[in-house]
Amino acid sequence: MSIIEGTPAEALYRLDGVTRTYDAKGRKVTPLTGVTVEIGAGEFVTIQGPTGGGKSTLLQLLGALDRPTAGSLILAGTELSSASNAELGRIRAEDVGFVFQGFNLIPTLTARENVAMALVPTKTPVPERASRVEEALAHVGLADRGDHLPGELSGGQQQRVAIARAIVKRPRVLLADEPTGNLDEEMRDEILALLESLCADGLTLIVVTHDSAVAKRAHRRLRLKNGRVTEV
Ligand SMILES: Nc1ncnc2c1ncn2[C@@H]1O[C@H](COP(=O)(O)OP(=O)(O)O)[C@@H](O)[C@H]1O
Ligand SMILES: [Mg+2]
Repeated sequence: MSIIEGTPAEALYRLDGVTRTYDAKGRKVTPLTGVTVEIGAGEFVTIQGPTGGGKSTLLQLLGALDRPTAGSLILAGTELSSASNAELGRIRAEDVGFVFQGFNLIPTLTARENVAMALVPTKTPVPERASRVEEALAHVGLADRGDHLPGELSGGQQQRVAIARAIVKRPRVLLADEPTGNLDEEMRDEILALLESLCADGLTLIVVTHDSAVAKRAHRRLRLKNGRVTEV
């Protein structure tokens, strides 16, 4: 059985003219000036572009952490630009897994407890949670490391725990911001192979990366420059 929830065949994301303006101390910054792109269910897409180009801003919008200032952003049929805070919260809890460059694990919790945290805001029945956590840890090759604290694991293993935490909720999409940025080449290749295997199981992957070795493996490479997205 796949760990990934079934995804619809139509576009998972449909973005049309997505604009995001920040008001930073009276000075307006507009990292996204009209992003128009579709991403299909099951795709592995990378996003490259200059530092400060709006990559993290775009990922936050895709992850329902933030709303566009203008434009339309539809995830699985839901318009996120006009969704209520409660609806955005539900989407973050159920539909979106996040992975970051710095792993963002809670240092005082074990690997198992870090993964279990992701199920707290979901509707997963409590009696099912422990087995779901073990299944996710096994999926990333850490079945025997559940009791370890993050500080007792290598960088690659910590990122595996973070991936387990992202997939335990069976999201529609995994959003990763420079997931291999803190890893050496060998660990990067391990994480890349793991992400590819999740995609082969049907998970949509959207990965921001500076690493051309990562981008080379994508189905589609997008570039974010001057506030807009183009295909590479
Ligand atoms: N919360 C915020 N408030 C004000 N400006 C922001 C905020 N987040 C990002 N920015 C600005 O938006 C631009 C894009 O940032 P970001 O999306 O982090 O770029 P990237 O991830 O491509 O390096 C930068 O100029 C950054 O300073
Ligand atoms: Mg960034």
